[in-house]
Amino acid sequence: MDVRGDFLVIGSGIAGLRAALTLAEARDVIVLTKASAEESNTGYAQGGIAAALGPDDSPALHAKDTLAAGDGLCDPDAVDLLVREGPKYVVELLEWGAQFDRETDGSPSLGHEAAHTVRRVLHARDATGREIGRLLWSRVSANPRIRVLQDADATDLVVANGTCTGVRFVSNDGVGTATAQRTLLASGGAGQVFRETTNPSIATGDGIAMAAHAGARVADLEFVQFHPTVMSVPGKPRFLLSEALRGEGARLVNHVGDRFMQRYQPAGDLASRDLVSRAIVREMERTHEPVYLSLAHMNRAFVHERFPTIARACASAGLDLASDRIPVSPAAHYVMGGVETDLDGRTSIQGLFAAGEVACTGVHGANRLASNSLLEGLVFGARAADAMTGPLCPARLREHEVIAWPADARRPPSIDLPSTDDVRALMWRNCGLLREGHGIDATLTRLDAWHALIRTAPAARIGEREFRRLRSIITVGLLIARAALRREESRGGHFRSDFPDRDDIKWLKHVSDVLESPEPKSQTPNPNAK
Ligand code: FAD
Ligand code: SIN
Repeated sequence: MDVRGDFLVIGSGIAGLRAALTLAEARDVIVLTKASAEESNTGYAQGGIAAALGPDDSPALHAKDTLAAGDGLCDPDAVDLLVREGPKYVVELLEWGAQFDRETDGSPSLGHEAAHTVRRVLHARDATGREIGRLLWSRVSANPRIRVLQDADATDLVVANGTCTGVRFVSNDGVGTATAQRTLLASGGAGQVFRETTNPSIATGDGIAMAAHAGARVADLEFVQFHPTVMSVPGKPRFLLSEALRGEGARLVNHVGDRFMQRYQPAGDLASRDLVSRAIVREMERTHEPVYLSLAHMNRAFVHERFPTIARACASAGLDLASDRIPVSPAAHYVMGGVETDLDGRTSIQGLFAAGEVACTGVHGANRLASNSLLEGLVFGARAADAMTGPLCPARLREHEVIAWPADARRPPSIDLPSTDDVRALMWRNCGLLREGHGIDATLTRLDAWHALIRTAPAARIGEREFRRLRSIITVGLLIARAALRREESRGGHFRSDFPDRDDIKWLKHVSDVLESPEPKSQTPNPNAK
């Protein structure tokens, strides 16, 4: 089935839905989304959305905290837009009826999270993303100018004469093409590239892979955020234990109950995520025992009232959040890099825009400040939509060094297609929280080879859906490994044990990457596939 609209949006998370609402003020919009409309990273967001709305806060203070977390690599102009425009869009959510928690005087209740110097996180208990998703979806689904195709998986960008004219996609009706004057990638993150992740199964980095295969510039992919406190009970699914727990007083303890964080970081339990994650791993290596999050000293009724979703997840693993120690370890959570955009969401391909986690706007630098991602999706989703309604013009991308490293350069003689689990395990082992040159290099050799293979292998061997998933994971893994090997220093989410220090002389810069050749046409999916 082919579809045509004025504007095309790929993805129904916060960035895609917010953009669709602005676009629909001008003309008709098609939203393609891979699973059900509610399935997205947005829907799982717990802690909340940051905005300088408190009496002791200001955009300038929010910018200062964002820049500090970004470890020298945030784009100050992008940060400035985020923190100055953020409050307006968050207030808009409140006016539309967002059910955020309130103080007794009716003002929004503001939570505290790591590396924020004041309370500035608006939240709906511990299910903020679900509430934002509900609200935006209620408006999108009621808007007659927006047509949403669910279970429609975009597979390739269509680019003609250097301009993006839409995407090819696969749905329950077979293969189709969605054509539009402007296309917005709002397809979210890529946590599934790693074996351990907080992200749902949809987060395979499809947008980054599609854009890279079409020749778009990507940047900062070495910077992956590993969330420190993910429930880690053998045999049970991994589940995020929000930073808001520590913001309200939860403590990290080792197997004998010692608060070990001070040993590694003066800021203790509320140091930035990269520091806490590495401290947890070091403590586990030192003691050969798990580490835990403990709320036993806190008021039981408060814990259950404030964190009902997390308490339910703990209960399903046989643990009581308020009284038991909950075993935790880090997992891949957020990709700071992505498809490079200017401040209005334009990418290096004319007619193609990107917003939200798929994009690299420069707001997060080397490490994202907690609860800035929902805000980014909101602000830059709306900004990209505004720009999409205007005339086409080239992106004003930042002046980065650009590397076009030929794909498939190092193909070994014989190799078979891996399973997605093989790739995810390899990425976790060698390109995870602690990286080292030899391991990354060996990983890159295999990813190069697999990438070459998946561009020519018949999809039927493993089934269409799995093939698409594997193709995205290999492509994004390859881009992450290239960037991680290149950056010979440690900064933010990127830690090289062979280069453990930050090196501002050589590395106070971004490097953009371009995958040389677009995906061959023979990859068009089987029309009967689901
Ligand atoms: P998403 O919300 O991930 O939406 C992407 C959409 O694109 C989905 O609808 C997906 O189905 C669709 N899609 C993907 N590929 C395709 C394709 N090929 N074809 C068609 N559609 C496709 N951030 C915060 O700021 N605060 C928090 O409290 C917070 N908590 C979090 C908790 C968890 C467990 C997780 C996983 C993340 C959390 N984050 C939080 C991060 C934040 O949720 C995300 O970065 C943000 O929601 C991303 O929004 P998005 O619109 O860019 O992408
Ligand atoms: C959390 O609730 O800890 C996640 C917040 C975020 O990713 O910003």
